[in-house]
Amino acid sequence: MLIEHLSRQLRERDAQALRRRRRVLDSPCGPHALILDGAARRPLLAFCSNDYLGLAADERLQAALAQGARRWGVGSGASHLVCGHSRAHEDLEQVLADWLAACLPGATALAFGSGYMANVALLAALGDAQATLFTDKLNHASLIDGAQLARAEVRRYPHGRLDRLAAELEACATPIKLVVTDGVFSMDGDLAALPEILALAERHDAWVVLDDAHGLGVLGAQGRGSLAHFGLASERVILMGTLGKAVGVAGAFVCAHPVVIDGLVQAARPYIYTTAAPPSLAHATTCSIALVRGAEGDARRARLCARIEQLRTGLAAIVAERPRLGWRLPESRTPTSRWSSATTRPRCGCRSGWRRAACGSRRSARPPCRRAARACASR
Ligand SMILES: Cc1ncc(COP(=O)(O)O)c(C=O)c1O
Repeated sequence: MLIEHLSRQLRERDAQALRRRRRVLDSPCGPHALILDGAARRPLLAFCSNDYLGLAADERLQAALAQGARRWGVGSGASHLVCGHSRAHEDLEQVLADWLAACLPGATALAFGSGYMANVALLAALGDAQATLFTDKLNHASLIDGAQLARAEVRRYPHGRLDRLAAELEACATPIKLVVTDGVFSMDGDLAALPEILALAERHDAWVVLDDAHGLGVLGAQGRGSLAHFGLASERVILMGTLGKAVGVAGAFVCAHPVVIDGLVQAARPYIYTTAAPPSLAHATTCSIALVRGAEGDARRARLCARIEQLRTGLAAIVAERPRLGWRLPESRTPTSRWSSATTRPRCGCRSGWRRAACGSRRSARPPCRRAARACASR
């Protein structure tokens, strides 16, 4: 029965061209990818990774990972609260808090195995029965899932509609209010209106849970992210940042008021009941952050901005050449853009952001319909 049930669901997905498939990459993360196609290796251009600064395959970080493995071994052996929390994790948390201190004064950091885990942990732990969560409808899936696990009341407001958020805050009677938003929205690449959101939070004594997965490393001075982009600093922000996107390694962290962080250590089940990430990863991540926040990061961010403009110019030319296809030029000026078509149905190859490496062929010019296209500094 189970197999029949699942097979029916798979057939339905096939019929709607919505079946998810994995592609096997036979090359390191980078713009020029080799994809296994049976026995052959197909060269493709990747417009779908989050390696915005081109650090994921950096040789210095490979060396740092190897050095970390020699110093700390391979596995952490236990959860952070048992005996898996090494000096490499501790150093990483201090470096993160120091990097972000200009935007999050007095905050401390807590490292997680992934952004998904961090968001679920955060909302489930902070969103208790005393709280209300106000979440933008286009927030990332991990925030939606975290809100579902929370015992708090959840109010979802239409994307970017701060008038609706303000009305919900006004009407809210719970003592704890958490406004939950992506900094850079992960499919469209638009920015949350953080100055206005923070002003509302101040007015209503609310806190802001900010998922800056796509802003960190990319935006603002030293790549400090969306808050720095707007020149904001606040003790009211509980920031979740990922380390597998612009930082090029893996994992995530929450950076917030020390009492919030200690509260998570006590109550966040996805933090407590899981084996700590390998310390060698923490060590490599610390090395990567030194690059991201320094002069090299500035140069990579400048190159990324140039690539974003190049992508926009190229897309604009295609949109102008083929108006009948109904493609719309993305608004976004971040590395993530939605390039959507009013007329074209999503197609598998096209949806996932891969292009044939043979530029200039008719096929290579096809855009991803409905999905995000991403620019990368090394493209
Ligand atoms: C906005 C946002 N938040 C969280 C995550 C999850 O991060 P991770 O990949 O580290 O689990 C993602 C991943 O794509 C994301 O786009």
